[in-house]
Amino acid sequence: MLRLSLVFLLMTVLVSGAMATEVPVWIRGQHFQLRGEEVRVADDGIHDPTNDAVNVLQQPFEAMKGFPRDGQNIINWVEVLDSGLINPRKSLLGDEEMFPADFDIIFKNTGSMPYVRFPHRPHTEWLTCLNCHPSIFLPQKGGNPVTMSAIIQGEYCGVCHGKVAFPPTMNCGRCHSVSRESGFLR
Ligand code: HEC
Ligand code: HEC
Ligand code: HEC
Repeated sequence: MLRLSLVFLLMTVLVSGAMATEVPVWIRGQHFQLRGEEVRVADDGIHDPTNDAVNVLQQPFEAMKGFPRDGQNIINWVEVLDSGLINPRKSLLGDEEMFPADFDIIFKNTGSMPYVRFPHRPHTEWLTCLNCHPSIFLPQKGGNPVTMSAIIQGEYCGVCHGKVAFPPTMNCGRCHSVSRESGFLR
């Protein structure tokens, strides 16, 4: 079952990759600046290489040198924020506060994979409720038909994961983190 799902996933990635005019940068690892990668702003496929600003901006691999990384070599932004290495401004003028919510949602339609824990706390430390509710997710447990292929195609979790947050193809265990046997789930 797991093996079948993996094959299906791989095919989804390959097919969507072949159909797109260009393979998404995150499939090539690029803007995640994996350990040892030194992709310059001008070459990251995101910034306009003809704009002069690409020569002024600090290179990400300099700015993020030494930041903690997860098991797939991707910068662990949750740890970066928690440890105070960065202190993002809360609003344009910096005069607002965040109002984090601290509760988890467990997704259980995961085939033979471990269940998925969606934690509100690390999300709402840099996102407002309105970033997700109601446009990406109706705020109701089980109220959204989330599937892995939809995520890989950039919906639901994939609106951010694969773009500004760790990609859905590279670190299954960071989302699928709850053992199916865990008693806590009943
Ligand atoms: C960003 C979080 C995230 C990551 C990373 C992630 N998944 Fe998922 N996955 C989900 C969510 C959410 C569901 C939907 C569960 C539900 O609806 O109950 C899901 C569902 C699934 C399912 C159930 C069948 C389906 O298609 O929905 C499988 C199998 C699966 N994931 C495999 C994987 C594999 C393999 C990886 C790594 C290559 C992975 N997932 C990485 C969040 C993630
Ligand atoms: C990054 C996206 C995201 C953000 C930001 C977010 N949520 Fe959620 N929220 C979710 C997801 C995903 C679910 C589960 C939906 C599902 O099960 O289909 C959820 C579910 C909920 C639920 C339903 C709980 C239940 O048991 O039915 C409530 C209430 C909720 N969120 C409130 C909030 C509030 C308040 C904030 C802001 C402080 C917030 N959320 C921010 C993604 C988010
Ligand atoms: C609106 C944007 C957004 C959406 C939608 C979103 N995430 Fe995230 N998520 C983030 C950001 C930003 C981070 C922190 C950056 C990183 O770790 O790469 C994060 C981090 C995480 C983490 C790491 C938490 C930790 O403590 O290390 C998990 C797990 C996660 N998301 C799961 C999910 C799942 C599952 C969904 C869908 C049900 C989802 N996210 C939807 C933006 C989002």
